[in-house]
Amino acid sequence: MKNNLINKINKLKKNHNAVVLAHNYQIGEVQDIADYTGDSLGLSIEASKTTAKLIVFCGVNFMAETAAIISIDKKVVVPEINAGCPMADMITVTALKKLKDQNPKAKVVCYVNSGADIKAESDICCTSANAIRVVESLTNTEEIIFVPDKYLGSYVASKVKDKRIILWQGFCPTHAKILPEHIMTAKDKYPGAKVLVHPECRPETIALADYVLSTGGMLKLAKESGSKEFILATEIGILHSLKRQNPEKNFYPALASAICPNMKLTTLEKILWSLEDLITEVRVPPEIAAKARLAIEKMLAVGRQV
Ligand code: 13P
Ligand code: SF4
Repeated sequence: MKNNLINKINKLKKNHNAVVLAHNYQIGEVQDIADYTGDSLGLSIEASKTTAKLIVFCGVNFMAETAAIISIDKKVVVPEINAGCPMADMITVTALKKLKDQNPKAKVVCYVNSGADIKAESDICCTSANAIRVVESLTNTEEIIFVPDKYLGSYVASKVKDKRIILWQGFCPTHAKILPEHIMTAKDKYPGAKVLVHPECRPETIALADYVLSTGGMLKLAKESGSKEFILATEIGILHSLKRQNPEKNFYPALASAICPNMKLTTLEKILWSLEDLITEVRVPPEIAAKARLAIEKMLAVGRQV
């Protein structure tokens, strides 16, 4: 049954000259059939350089929108149109414009976990893989409005001392659930393990990290590190790729219930249906896309920080 599904997906992919891109939090079987699985920055880079005509994007909507904005000549479809991100919905354009009016000298850095309309109102975009570097790249600016993630923003503020960072109060409900006591319990159980924390976590959770990394950074570190055991403070979907890529190492979730429900909506069946009917296309109004593209391209020029 599963093999049958995969065969059909592969056949349609070939017919449409399509590529399947998946985020590291997708369910295991989706990660396994994807042509590329990675973090938000890796997925944006991949979308910008693929020669395929069609991108089937398995993640959440802001990621697929970002791919559609930077891949002008390609069609982007999503297997699950309802895969939103609550953090991205925590800010509106009206609120951002007000903040800009109140802080006229500030430049706006928006986390990629935001709508296209927010990106269009921003000077530059960032992901968890390059937020510090992006903020540092704004050399002629002392004030930064950072939206929408207050935790990633405060982590950046703790590293970039020569700028005042004005935070928006958004957050990721999945990462906010991971508390210091979860890390402490895991450390008691696995005292030799390295603690890898995503910067969407609370500052008090980040304070217990050996490394603060994007999901792509976690995969890289796990591969390159001499350590054999790791505690992961992030969404548990990452464990699939970690275990597959490092069968001789052990990975423990800091909190096994750190699950992003939206990331789990995509299934192999839905990927097949989206390739069959091609109707769940991601479209961004051209005038918003043109402005948002500038912010994303500036981020891509900055690249990855680790
Ligand atoms: P990464 O870019 O680190 O994969 O994170 C994306 C995300 O949504 C984390 O919640
Ligand atoms: Fe949004 Fe959090 Fe899910 Fe990432 S894990 S997509 S930030 S809700």
